[in-house]
Amino acid sequence: MTAVNLITGASGGIGEELAYCAAKAGRNLVLVARSASELSRVADRIKASGHARPEIFALDLTEPNAGQKLADFLKQKSLTVSELVNNAGWGLVGAVASLDRDQQMNTIDLNIRALTDLTIRFLPEILNARGGILNVASTAAFQPGPFMAIYYASKSFVLSFTEALSYELRGRVRVTALCPGPVPTGFQKRANMGKARISQLPGMPPAKVAEIGWRGFERGKRVVIPGFMNKLTAFLGPRVPRKPVLAVTGYLTSHRRDT
Ligand SMILES: NC(=O)c1ccc[n+]([C@@H]2O[C@H](COP(=O)([O-])OP(=O)(O)OC[C@H]3O[C@@H](n4cnc5c(N)ncnc54)[C@H](OP(=O)(O)O)[C@@H]3O)[C@@H](O)[C@H]2O)c1
Repeated sequence: MTAVNLITGASGGIGEELAYCAAKAGRNLVLVARSASELSRVADRIKASGHARPEIFALDLTEPNAGQKLADFLKQKSLTVSELVNNAGWGLVGAVASLDRDQQMNTIDLNIRALTDLTIRFLPEILNARGGILNVASTAAFQPGPFMAIYYASKSFVLSFTEALSYELRGRVRVTALCPGPVPTGFQKRANMGKARISQLPGMPPAKVAEIGWRGFERGKRVVIPGFMNKLTAFLGPRVPRKPVLAVTGYLTSHRRDT
C-alpha cells in the first residue's frame, strides 16, 4: 500500500496551489474535483516539474455516496490516505429567501457534509500514519455573513470542527484550519459575487495562500490566517458587538439592489 496526500478541489484555485506545495514537499498525491480535464492539467504540470504524477479522480463530492466511491477507488489502486486536504468548497451571494433551495443545500453538502465524511472515513488511516488533516475554512468563519449566510455558517462549522479535532488528536495527527480572506480564483464567479462590494476588496494570490497554509500545516499549527488584514478580521469578528458586525458584513456581501 502507498500512502498518499489526498486533496479535494485540486482542479483550480487554492487547491491546485496546495497540490504544487505538497508535490514539492515530496508527497504522493491523489487529486479530486469534478473536472477530469483540469485535474489532468494539474497532474501533468506536477509530473513535468519532476515529481510523481498524481492519481486523479473526477468526482462530485456532493453525491450522497461520493465518500464510498473515493474509498473504493483508493482501495483498487492500493493507496491509503496519510494526509487529507479538505479544500473543495463554494458559496453563493444572495438572500436566503431568494436563492435556490437546492443550491443552498448543495453548499452544505460540499462544505460540511463531504468534508466531515472524508475526515471520519479516512481518520483510521491518517492516525495509523501519524499524518495530518488540512481543512480550508475562511475568515468568513469568524462572524455571521448576511447575503452569504450559509457559506459563512458552513465555514464556522469547518473552523469549530477542525479546532476540536486538533485537540482530540493532539500529539498524534496534525490538524490545521486554513482561513484565507479574499483570494481571486474561480470562487467569485461561481458565487455570483460580481456586483457584491466584497469583490472589490484586495485579494491575496492563491499561490501565496497555499504556501502559507502548507507551511503552517507542516508545522502543526491549529489555525493559519494568511495576511495581517485577515488576522485583524478574525480578531475583531468575534469581539465587536454583533449589530455592527452584521451591518458591515451585510454591506460588503450585498450590492445596492439587496440593501
Ligand atoms: N477564493 C476565496 O476568496 C476564498 C476565501 C476563503 C476561503 N476560500 C475557500 O477555499 C477553498 C477553495 O476555493 P477556491 O477559492 O480555490 O475556489 P475555486 O477556484 O472555485 O476552486 C474550488 C475547487 O473545488 C472543486 N469543487 C467545487 N465543487 C465541487 C464538487 N461538488 N465536488 C468536487 N469538487 C468540487 C472545484 O473543481 P470542479 O469545479 O472541477 O469540481 C475546484 O477545484 C474553498 O473551500 C473556499 O470556500 C476561498
